[in-house]
Amino acid sequence: MTILVTGGAGFIGGNFIRHILASPIQKLLDEPIINLDKMTYAGNMISLKDYNDNKGLKTIKGDIGDSNLVLGILNTHSPRAIINFAAETHVDRSLHSPKDFIQTNIVGTHSLLQTTLEWWTLLTVAEQKDFRFIHISTDEVYGSLGKDENPFSEDSRYQPNNPYSASKAASDHLVRAYHQTYGLPVITLHCSNNYGPYQFPEKLIPLMIHRALQGQSLPVYGDGQHIRDWLYVDDNCRAIEMVLQNGQVGETYNIGSQQEIKNIDVVHLICKILDRDCPKQDGSSYQSQITFVKDRLGHDRRYAMNTQKITSSLSWSPHESFETGLEKTIQWVLENAEWTDTMTSGDYRQWIEKQYQE
Ligand code: NAD
Ligand code: DAU
Repeated sequence: MTILVTGGAGFIGGNFIRHILASPIQKLLDEPIINLDKMTYAGNMISLKDYNDNKGLKTIKGDIGDSNLVLGILNTHSPRAIINFAAETHVDRSLHSPKDFIQTNIVGTHSLLQTTLEWWTLLTVAEQKDFRFIHISTDEVYGSLGKDENPFSEDSRYQPNNPYSASKAASDHLVRAYHQTYGLPVITLHCSNNYGPYQFPEKLIPLMIHRALQGQSLPVYGDGQHIRDWLYVDDNCRAIEMVLQNGQVGETYNIGSQQEIKNIDVVHLICKILDRDCPKQDGSSYQSQITFVKDRLGHDRRYAMNTQKITSSLSWSPHESFETGLEKTIQWVLENAEWTDTMTSGDYRQWIEKQYQE
């Protein structure tokens, strides 16, 4: 048996591959992983270079929307599960070019579902029953919470506010429809804001660490009071593995840390840890680099997750506090400057110029 991961050269998919290859259950099952990734600006094999010679991992460069390629992979490898991480993921980029998000997140996910269905229909009844299509979605599909509102539950209304979250919401609906209509065994996971090693430095935490170390401004959008539920990526990967083994078909699960933190407090904590671990030569604090800039269009004010369902049904809970997770993340960045250098050459500079100079 095999597991097909899509988008495994990106942040969470790559961490999931590393997690699963190291997991005792996986070692017991000895299942190879096939990684299908288009290698957009966000995907890079350098993130998986330690596994170049690992027989347990095969990476194929390609698009989830290429039905011939996907069908070939399914016929050749007969996976027992597909875990769909592949997506365009950065909200700010979705404000500039929504089309890419519609293409991959909606059209691409639909193509992946349809190809999977055509292949799955020809399996034996027992194989059909054992198969899983796990779709990785986001808390952003639920929209934005007011200050005193209860955290999102799996029953919260869909109310996406930007092209990225709208495209993820559309893909969730298609995934649900393929279960309700055709019986494809799907599970959808709504994950909160992940952070940790190998995150592309366009997202808040790696961007701030990188820019602080470069002596550049730390651009906080609007008043910096926006709130996110920060989840260490390894905790998310453990949850996905548990759902893969014991999740209920047709269900959706929220995954979050229940640690709600304001953006400005995230940035202050990054500066504090860097002041201690990598002090500036002139003795000043990294805090002096903080700049408040124009707010993001349609900026969601608050995300928070009720994770009771996954906690009570699968006994999952996060291991890391925000402080311990952030310490590990910063340590990783300091020890892996080469990775950040590779990821921030070329196109990255054009993006930063477009987003922060305009
Ligand atoms: P990422 O941007 O780091 O990586 C995405 C990966 O998908 C890249 O390797 C890219 O090359 C690949 N990809 C893009 N389009 C593709 C296509 N058409 N076919 C094949 N591969 C393609 O993303 P991430 O942060 O790791 O997010 C992974 C998934 O988790 C996404 O579905 C995202 O919506 C979801 N999610 C992310 C977060 C977060 O905080 N990062 C939180 C909740 C949910
Ligand atoms: O909530 C889950 C989502 O988290 C995922 O579905 C998305 O794929 C992922 O990108 C992330 O979206 P956010 O928009 O919440 O994450 P981002 O890191 O872009 O921004 C986090 C917060 O920080 C947000 O309130 C905007 C703010 N921000 C971000 C950047 C890049 C700044 O203040 N300055 C910045 O330069």
